[in-house]
Amino acid sequence: MAGDLFKKLEGIQACVFDAYGTLFNVATPVEKLANTIGEKAPEIAKLWRQKQLEYTWLRSLMGTHADFWTVTRDALDYVLEFHNITEPDLADELMTLYLKLDAYDDVAATLQALRAKGKRCAILSNGSPLMLDSAVRHVGLDKLFEHVLSVEEVGIYKPSRRVYRLAMQKLHIQDTPSICFISANSWDAQAAAQFGFQVVKIARSPSVNDHIPGKPAATIDSLSKLPDLV
Ligand code: LAC
Repeated sequence: MAGDLFKKLEGIQACVFDAYGTLFNVATPVEKLANTIGEKAPEIAKLWRQKQLEYTWLRSLMGTHADFWTVTRDALDYVLEFHNITEPDLADELMTLYLKLDAYDDVAATLQALRAKGKRCAILSNGSPLMLDSAVRHVGLDKLFEHVLSVEEVGIYKPSRRVYRLAMQKLHIQDTPSICFISANSWDAQAAAQFGFQVVKIARSPSVNDHIPGKPAATIDSLSKLPDLV
């Protein structure tokens, strides 16, 4: 894919990863309970994610922050109500599975390769500290990150500039382009690029860029291509 043709990014000290959709597959809970949910499962997974993100943006604009666990449950309750699903315990089961998401196949080897090259690695995510801690431990990635940063430290969601600034503060990096930010969410990748990071978008599924400011420096179809870029 075109990603192979991108020039190497210069001066990168740290690789900062988005979590959900980038490292972890957010469809895992619905996929695991697909037999119980039935044929609407893919639609439910999609709407759950869409509403979850919408609620982060709405709450950020409304000035009524609640953590990602709350927002994720609120989004799920909306989706189940929308589809008229009243299965007892289903919501609780899906939420429990959200703490044990699958990591994408290319994640562990990429992190090891980046660390072998001396790159610092961190997560910068909407997730609450508890959710992120559980997710990285579940797939055995906890030792590979220098920092697992949650928006809870600033009390507002991406794409607020306050969130991207948090990564610079915590990593003690003054120069925005010294951070390579990696996300599969176009809006997140573009906002981080507009903030000033050098951004690599990982195209986990076919998507077009959003029509908002910010342009990723590169788009790749597998994280395994990242170590050669930085
Ligand atoms: C995150 C969401 C955007 O991990 O996926 O921050």
